Amino acid sequence: MDSNDLEGLTPNMNTSSPTAGERPVVRVKELSERDRRRLLMHFLALDDSDRLLRFGTILPDELITRYVQRLDFSRDTVFGVYDANLALLGVGHLAFTPRETSSILHNATLKARVAEFGVSVASNARGMGIGSRLFERAAIRCRNEDVDTLYMHCLSSNQTMIHIAAKAGMEIHREYGEADAYLKLLPASPGTMLAEAVEEQFATFDYGFKANTKAALKWWNRLPGRKAK
Ligand SMILES: CC(C)(COP(=O)(O)OP(=O)(O)OC[C@H]1O[C@@H](n2cnc3c(N)ncnc32)[C@H](O)[C@@H]1OP(=O)(O)O)[C@@H](O)C(=O)NCCC(=O)NCCS
Repeated sequence: MDSNDLEGLTPNMNTSSPTAGERPVVRVKELSERDRRRLLMHFLALDDSDRLLRFGTILPDELITRYVQRLDFSRDTVFGVYDANLALLGVGHLAFTPRETSSILHNATLKARVAEFGVSVASNARGMGIGSRLFERAAIRCRNEDVDTLYMHCLSSNQTMIHIAAKAGMEIHREYGEADAYLKLLPASPGTMLAEAVEEQFATFDYGFKANTKAALKWWNRLPGRKAK
């Protein structure tokens, strides 16, 4: 991924660790079947230490491929943030499970389902708020899906993720080098429904704009006499 592609995030973005005030606008879009190849590219680009942090083990390429092939978009929700070239800078996977089948959360709620969240951000796009925005979007989706318990598992050494979890008000339990984080969520409201619908509309517009720009550039570069970039 070219660092220029990060410009797709915002026109005025500064790539050297922007402070909270300088952060780009991050559009989080719900992903679908057509994103499977991009998801694979995103996960395969994670190095061993990121794979360990994301999956709890250094998943080899074959198992990552299988994980992506098996993602069920009708059962779970996958969110993403695209760069200007429509590659995925960040991915959040929200897996819904019936309460009884969750060994960890079956006593945590009376709701029918609980949710587990996993997230990864491309190494060259960190510190811009993408991970936090993916998490916030996942939390709002849980509320709108009548799920009041959001769970996340990570290594205790994962200070960045623990910081994001603590900032969101998650209760964090550390044991044997691992950390479990729980967030109790309020019920849905007209405000949460509207917020999610508006965010998805903006993200869809942003995606369309990037897709059209990409297609136009491709066409332009193919014109006779132009050197392809
Ligand atoms: C964890 C991860 C998703 C964070 O993504 P990100 O886009 O960089 O996160 P954000 O930019 O939204 O937020 C990072 C926050 O952590 C803080 N942070 C960064 N490094 C930190 C550290 N070593 N200790 C404490 N906080 C740290 C940042 O200051 C920022 O906080 P702020 O928003 O209050 O300023 C990303 O680092 C990643 O993909 N890691 C590998 C996979 C992984 O660990 N997944 C989580 C397990 S499911």
